[in-house]
Amino acid sequence: MLNRRDFLKSAGALAATSIFGQSAAYAQANQARPASAPGRTMVSLNKGWRFHEGDIAFPVIRGHGWTYANAKAGSASGAAAPGFDDSEWDNVMLPHDFASAQVPEESANVSQGYRKRGIGWYRTLIRLDEADHGKHIELQLDGISTLATVWFNGTQVAHVWSGYNSVYIDLTPFATYGEALNSLVIRADANTMQGWWYEGAGMYRNTWLVKREQVHIVTDGVFAHPVFADGQWTIPLEVTLFNIRKGAQKVQVESVLIDADGKTVASFSAPADVGTLAQHVVTGSMHVAAPKLWSLEERNLYSVRTRVLQDGRLLDEVTTRCGFRTQRFDPEQGFFLNDKHVKLQGVCIHQDHAGVGVAVPYGLLDYRMRRLKELGVNAIRCSHHAQDKRFYELCDEMGFLVMDENRVFNPSPEHVDELNWLVRCHRNHPSIILWSVFNEEPIQGTEQGYEMVRRMVAAVHALDTSRPTTAAMNTGQFEPANAGQAVDVVGFNYQYPSYDAFHQAFPTVPMTSSEDTSAYQTRGAYLTVPEKHIMASYDDDASSWGSTHRVGWKAVAERPFVAGAFVWTGFDYHGEPTPHEWPSNSSFFGIMDLCGFAKDAFWLHQAQWRKEPVLQLAPHWNWAGKEGQAITVMALHNMDEVEVFLNGRSQGRQKGDIYEMNRWQVPYAPGRLSAVGYRDGKVVKRFEVETTGAPVALKLTPDRAFMLGDGLDAQPIQVEALDAKGRHVPLAQHQIVFKAEGGDIIGLGNGDPNDTSSEKGNTRALFNGLAQVIVQTREGTAGALRLSASAPGLKSAVLDVEVRKGQPWAYQATSAPVQILDGWRSSPLSPTPVDPNLRPAGTDMNSWGWVTPGTRAKPAEQTGYMLYVADVWAFARVRKHGGVLEFREVTGPCQVFVDGKKVGEKTSEAPGPLRVAVPAVKDKLNLSVLCPLKAGQPHGLSGVVRVLSA
Ligand code: GAL
Repeated sequence: MLNRRDFLKSAGALAATSIFGQSAAYAQANQARPASAPGRTMVSLNKGWRFHEGDIAFPVIRGHGWTYANAKAGSASGAAAPGFDDSEWDNVMLPHDFASAQVPEESANVSQGYRKRGIGWYRTLIRLDEADHGKHIELQLDGISTLATVWFNGTQVAHVWSGYNSVYIDLTPFATYGEALNSLVIRADANTMQGWWYEGAGMYRNTWLVKREQVHIVTDGVFAHPVFADGQWTIPLEVTLFNIRKGAQKVQVESVLIDADGKTVASFSAPADVGTLAQHVVTGSMHVAAPKLWSLEERNLYSVRTRVLQDGRLLDEVTTRCGFRTQRFDPEQGFFLNDKHVKLQGVCIHQDHAGVGVAVPYGLLDYRMRRLKELGVNAIRCSHHAQDKRFYELCDEMGFLVMDENRVFNPSPEHVDELNWLVRCHRNHPSIILWSVFNEEPIQGTEQGYEMVRRMVAAVHALDTSRPTTAAMNTGQFEPANAGQAVDVVGFNYQYPSYDAFHQAFPTVPMTSSEDTSAYQTRGAYLTVPEKHIMASYDDDASSWGSTHRVGWKAVAERPFVAGAFVWTGFDYHGEPTPHEWPSNSSFFGIMDLCGFAKDAFWLHQAQWRKEPVLQLAPHWNWAGKEGQAITVMALHNMDEVEVFLNGRSQGRQKGDIYEMNRWQVPYAPGRLSAVGYRDGKVVKRFEVETTGAPVALKLTPDRAFMLGDGLDAQPIQVEALDAKGRHVPLAQHQIVFKAEGGDIIGLGNGDPNDTSSEKGNTRALFNGLAQVIVQTREGTAGALRLSASAPGLKSAVLDVEVRKGQPWAYQATSAPVQILDGWRSSPLSPTPVDPNLRPAGTDMNSWGWVTPGTRAKPAEQTGYMLYVADVWAFARVRKHGGVLEFREVTGPCQVFVDGKKVGEKTSEAPGPLRVAVPAVKDKLNLSVLCPLKAGQPHGLSGVVRVLSA
């Protein structure tokens, strides 16, 4: 196993990451989900899905009978039907991004990383216990790309119009319990795009079921964000209750504020009368004398535990977190947190990562956030949409300020609902300081743009008055009517020359950069080669609308009235490979590459944003063939002075310029390039880089020292090549083959925007010395996850990551594919046996009945015969090989026929099961059940009917 010193030494151009010691924190945080509490159960629905890539056309409905039936609740057809045959689909676990498995193709969309997207179907069968009967059952879908239609038990229960928001669907009225499984079907339409970046495809975030008492707190139903006014801290409380019982209910709502030591420091209690099938909002407040403040340095978080009680019985309990802090955007001075000035050192981010697309496991998210912290970021803009819920928790815990952003700019009711969700879901997070209603809308400088924003801002402020709104405008701020007039803080995307002009024209309006920079770098490259789509890392290449990193930061840093910067972007992302197109398929903008490896912009911003001494030299020092030629050496630093040496010979001591940074022209000779950094004339930092030999061995370095064997934990493993002296070789480009044992490889990357090979599988090339493998543990394992790496001519590397026993999430029980026959017709009562071939006329809606097996048998009114019929397409396997028709319970005697031929019977009167073999068939299974009835005796299909494989 590597030790810490080895790691730091080999890191070469990488961050000296403080990676160890993080595992425990990660382990603890990860276990927090799902959040069950007394009165409510929250289970993950990430398992048990079957997936089909590609669309499945709905059948063309013909004939009156089918047309009539089709128009009814519960009768979705085609792949949305509960009985659809999905038994040969792939089994998948969420989060699942089916676009990330696509290999880039030139015919696909450049903005989406040349990955084909398309449509995918997901199906599962949920088994709800009898014990769940009487509960409120809610489905939570945290993110589906991009649009989705959701069916539950054959009824369409939601159209999801956002690829980024969660939706909560009340399944209670449709749910069945016990053996009658519940069919949940989702059609994800990723042909639709809501962005111009890689959006992934499918159910790429978590999915949950929440089971609560009939009187409960709605999801996102506690608002408890502390405010400071008139010298006093108060938590205005808002608790939204819902009641599905059959009458109004009197309950008591109690909230307590609990500090980090578990001590109750404030409380609130109030009665509530909740109408039936109605929401009721309880409001109140808690005063807190001297809370510990939440700040970037000290993330003091409090818990608000809210309970709903009835006659002393606990019905529901929700714990939300909050933090005490004040915030203010000042038109002259910028941003203040707790009355302390904070310049926003921000980055914009998208959500995807190498190898996994947008289906980012929490272990990987944790790594990404730590990388931002290390960079010196203190603010993150959720460009241009909501992130996963865990992201906001991490911002609270790690100390980031967040500009949260809405996706669709549209004040019509459906889209205002999306904005409402964003605010309701996130408003307790102390990290959130701004609500952004849009990004770069062409009508931002018009009256229409202004009117639209005015309405969206009103919607935000109806839910939260404590944070200002903004809009990320790339023009229009000077128009007579413009969106900026409707927001609290005016956001500037780029347009540095307008900073001063705007401040002069509107000196009382607070402003911030909402986006800046858009510079280009290829990690580890020091020569721009346009025809090869390579961008040097000296910070000289930038978009025409943006600037270099140095110009962007200087423009913000020197203007106190500009609250801060939001560099486009923290990490590279798939898609938008501006200024290039094919074969480039991921961006060049990132301060870090797609794997989170540092580009030189990392050291540049780290030097500008962190107080600790930073000194790093670009480039690497492997320039064989360029002996004697001048190589540009750039110091990225925050020193008063820097002196550069080659093989001990000074190349000049320069006064440090912390905006422009410093450069030397150094005639190349192999050896040691070093730098010494001074502050107040004293050496405070040294850096050196050596010419390496040829690579001889591979090395694997984990992000975290141990993982949890819960089947969820994932982490990136860094791959590099070393020379004979154990030094990182910066130019190695070897193709590496990997093998995982005791865990799985879920994705691969190397940060090369021009690499068109698959991000799945077991092989990837090093790109400028580095690659990354993302591994995941398997549920129920402990011991080690072993990753091996090999390449011809290099000594293989083997890494054992300790796997500790981990508590898997609680999962909802689901079922393997099974065909449930729930749609039967029943003949009118006949005095003589009914011909088993008889069927209702296509126009007959009434004389034949509609029967769903599984309901209690009723006594017959008269003596006679009744025929139950169902003509169904059995699952392919049953059609081919035959199967078993299983009646879990039939009350009274009956005979069973297939295609008019008797295949089995039950003779007893008593309720009981019946199983009969059914033959292989070419077409439909025409099933008939003939029941002799006796007046007053119960009869019928009192249990679920299923067709099983033989
Ligand atoms: C901005 C836009 C970003 C990204 C960026 C690239 O205009 O807001 O989403 O496209 O340009 O420079």
